[in-house]
Amino acid sequence: MRTYKAAVIGAGIIAKAHMKALHENENTSLTALADIVAARAGALAADYGVTPYDDYRRMVLTERPDIVVITLPHFLHKEAAIWCAEQGCHVLLEKPMAMNAAECADINAAAERCGVVIAVGHMQHYFPSVIRARQIVESGQLGKLIMINDKRHHFYFSAERPAWFLDRSRSGGGIVRNIGSHSLDKVQWLTGSAVTKVKADLTYFGERGDVDGSGLMYVQTASGVPAVISLCGYHNVSVNETELLFTGGQLKMGGQNSLWIGGNDRAYEQVKLAEHLEPFAAQWSDMLQAIAGLGGTVTSGAYGQSVAAAVDAAYLSHETGTEQLVG
Ligand SMILES: NC(=O)c1ccc[n+]([C@@H]2O[C@H](COP(=O)([O-])OP(=O)(O)OC[C@H]3O[C@@H](n4cnc5c(N)ncnc54)[C@H](O)[C@@H]3O)[C@@H](O)[C@H]2O)c1
Repeated sequence: MRTYKAAVIGAGIIAKAHMKALHENENTSLTALADIVAARAGALAADYGVTPYDDYRRMVLTERPDIVVITLPHFLHKEAAIWCAEQGCHVLLEKPMAMNAAECADINAAAERCGVVIAVGHMQHYFPSVIRARQIVESGQLGKLIMINDKRHHFYFSAERPAWFLDRSRSGGGIVRNIGSHSLDKVQWLTGSAVTKVKADLTYFGERGDVDGSGLMYVQTASGVPAVISLCGYHNVSVNETELLFTGGQLKMGGQNSLWIGGNDRAYEQVKLAEHLEPFAAQWSDMLQAIAGLGGTVTSGAYGQSVAAAVDAAYLSHETGTEQLVG
């Protein structure tokens, strides 16, 4: 494989993980990093010996990268992704793909028009626990998958969270848009099937901002698997747990390295997971395989749009009090 020239846009929290992954990849020449806060770009760029910019457009026009990784606040995803596509750059865009599904459709149309790859950073696909759980679902060894229960309870309004996350006009929503994207992705990815129906109840009791702080969703996939997703961002005990119940047993996932199997009154036993590349490194490697036409399966823009559409349906369901069909 040839070497690809790459640059990162946004030097915030998640940019650090991307910078490390790109720096360590042998087929990548990481050249630059841009952030509107020059000091932030300067500090992270110095860690990797690359050129900092305070204007991503100037960076792209000067450096001419083959690929950019966009780690901006949600309200900037669409304009940055489309502009970079128009400069001929392939794009790895952080999740959620954009503020809503309509914006995702515009990004996908631009990618098509410009002949570039737009991929979305649903990096949980590269979690060892998710890789193994998906294999077990596909193998049929536990029988038929009957339901999924996914819980993410974690304080959402902490002082460390950048303010834009809590401003609906810049984030597109709170815990349901942000963490719910991971949950809805997990349901789709593990079942291999799109979410087609959503009923949701949200609350707005956050101490800061105007976004949702909890969401309880009942969703169904095209393949007929129902899932309950419980997201709670107030002062509760932290939980990150996904249970998959089959006719012949069950799986429980914790974080990226925790998977248990049980059933028939047997207690859960821990599943030994294979060694995998660190998830951001694996995602980046997959991105390069996709661009090189070597069979990469990095998350497509169409898939990113499907997750955004399911999130949109959750908000609409809450507002109308009715179940919403997706797509
Ligand atoms: N995959 C994951 O698990 C994961 C985890 C955290 C965040 N994310 C996603 O990553 C993205 C970024 O989140 P974050 O937590 O790093 O946010 P952040 O606020 O820490 O970083 C965003 C950066 O963008 C910069 N920025 C704002 N406007 C800009 C502009 N016009 N030009 C250049 N830079 C600009 C800000 O100064 C900031 O440094 C979001 O889409 C978020 O949902 C994904």
